Amino acid sequence: MAFPTVRHRRLRRTAALRSMVRETAISADDFIMPIFVTYGEGVKNEIGSMPGVYHFSLDTLRGEVDEIVELGIKAVILFGIPESKDSLGTEAYAQDGIIQQATRRIKSWYPDLLVVADTCLCEFTDHGHCGMVHTFERDGHVHGDVLNDESLELLVRTAVAQAEAGADIIAPSNMMDGYVQAIREGLDAAGYDQIPIMAYSVKYASAFYGPFREAAQSAPQFGDRKTYQMDPANALEAIREAESDVLEGADMLMVKPALAYMDIIRTIKNEFDLPLVAYNVSGEYSMVKAGAANGWINEKAIVLELLTGLKRAGADIIITYHSKDAARWLREER
Ligand code: PBG
Ligand code: ZN
Repeated sequence: MAFPTVRHRRLRRTAALRSMVRETAISADDFIMPIFVTYGEGVKNEIGSMPGVYHFSLDTLRGEVDEIVELGIKAVILFGIPESKDSLGTEAYAQDGIIQQATRRIKSWYPDLLVVADTCLCEFTDHGHCGMVHTFERDGHVHGDVLNDESLELLVRTAVAQAEAGADIIAPSNMMDGYVQAIREGLDAAGYDQIPIMAYSVKYASAFYGPFREAAQSAPQFGDRKTYQMDPANALEAIREAESDVLEGADMLMVKPALAYMDIIRTIKNEFDLPLVAYNVSGEYSMVKAGAANGWINEKAIVLELLTGLKRAGADIIITYHSKDAARWLREER
């Protein structure tokens, strides 16, 4: 009987040995916490499908931001529900739009906290698409095309308004062609050449955005987003999308969603040398919360395992609704 001389278990014998050879670490530094801001007063409404995530009005936002900062999280990403929506998403680029107001407040409280602005129109348009649409009727149904180049002009205005309000990072999620170049030129022309662009480069047309669309009231009113967001079946196309964003001047790249796309995260990490962001989206969060609420899974263990997995796959930064919980759990572990 020959016993093994190669024994992998030698390095797993004690907690100290395991931590000495651990290849991947996650910390609060890696997380970006999303915040939903809305109009009104005294609003702190939990989002039904996203337990622990709330809509805040400007006057209730402070407590949430205090908590985020106290937990050592360095960045937030803002999403807004405007008071009124219209076909051109006017409030996205209004000087006193909800995101611009929230940004000014947060930066006045915490100048060092990074405010990431999601640059898109779908939360602000009455049709719920990410750009300007041309609608027409056929067979009694409303159809529409999302107009690329016309939308770019509105998106540039949005990015500039966000930078003017004090956003530290512009994160365009609209999936129009040429959006990075257009926004880069627009920011530079307005004097914001030091504001980085975190490009939602590889964004799939995913069912995992369902809870977010409920939260942001941004579901498309006709059609879907498949003419601009990517087909989940495609991997080579992810490289083409990231490549054009790099050429256009993106400072960071993103893959979204995260969990069903870990192969894509690894591919983009290997192909490009920019910091890589993974967006652990709303539906991914809701599934974990539902499982945990039923007592079917150990939420803390599952969340830390998922976030570690995303970093191991190649993500440098993770946008996640679990940020606060994970930061708290990591602090307890120390
Ligand atoms: C807006 C936007 C979406 C998300 C982030 N920015 C929704 C969408 O494209 O429908 C999704 C975030 C999530 O599901 O957590 N374009
Ligand atoms: Zn959008």
